Amino acid sequence: MSQQDWTRVDEYISAALISKDESQQATLAANARENLPAIDVSPPQGKLLQLLASAIGARRILEIGTLGGYSTIWLARAVGDGGKVVTFEVDPRHAEVAQANIAREGVSARVDLRVGPALDMLPLLESERPEPFDLAFIDADKPSNAAYFAYALKLTRPGALIIVDNVVREGAVADPSQTDGGALGARALFEAVAEEKRVEATAVQTVGAKGWDGFLIARVK
Ligand code: SAH
Ligand code: DHB
Ligand code: MG
Repeated sequence: MSQQDWTRVDEYISAALISKDESQQATLAANARENLPAIDVSPPQGKLLQLLASAIGARRILEIGTLGGYSTIWLARAVGDGGKVVTFEVDPRHAEVAQANIAREGVSARVDLRVGPALDMLPLLESERPEPFDLAFIDADKPSNAAYFAYALKLTRPGALIIVDNVVREGAVADPSQTDGGALGARALFEAVAEEKRVEATAVQTVGAKGWDGFLIARVK
């Protein structure tokens, strides 16, 4: 099995189950044109996020790590009219590209894009005493994952889902010889979640166009 096989199957899944209207080709083209890193969730993963959000009837979603807004737009489709995705992005250039993509997809009214380091901006969001969020998607700098998880827990309602991207990292999470920020961040997250009595959680490994990785999914009790 190789990356080529995983990519081919992702393309098969996308061709079979993700319509042209859903696929956001213009978003991905704009991101490539603007030289954003191609680290958006894959199309099947984006649709999974939308399905999970729809399944719990999410109307309010917190996202950390916008990039070009690809995952944001999948989530914004799920919240429906009157719903809201609050999303944080540290890089103003990424945010600018995202804002244009979000506008082109017609979901600007549902997206509150905030530019700055998420750990500086989350206390501000908290101080606004926002209505609790139904779902949080964490997909920014990996060393901060445990800290983001703690904020997500504070800001969500019982029954909410907290989803964290990139927790497997080609197996690095379970390889003690790997000590880069991503691996350490993933392990710190697993430890924090394991000790947290207010959630029930699992993680699933994934292969696909984005290689071997995985999501952690926690449900707030
Ligand atoms: N969720 C996006 C991909 C996000 S990539 C998608 O699937 O389409 C990770 C993003 O997190 C990058 O754009 C990066 O600039 C941003 N980021 C990194 N550190 C951050 C921080 N401290 N605060 C907010 N965003 C951050
Ligand atoms: C990276 C970040 C991501 O969010 C992702 O899905 C893949 C890779 C990265 O920083 O390399
Ligand atoms: Mg990611």
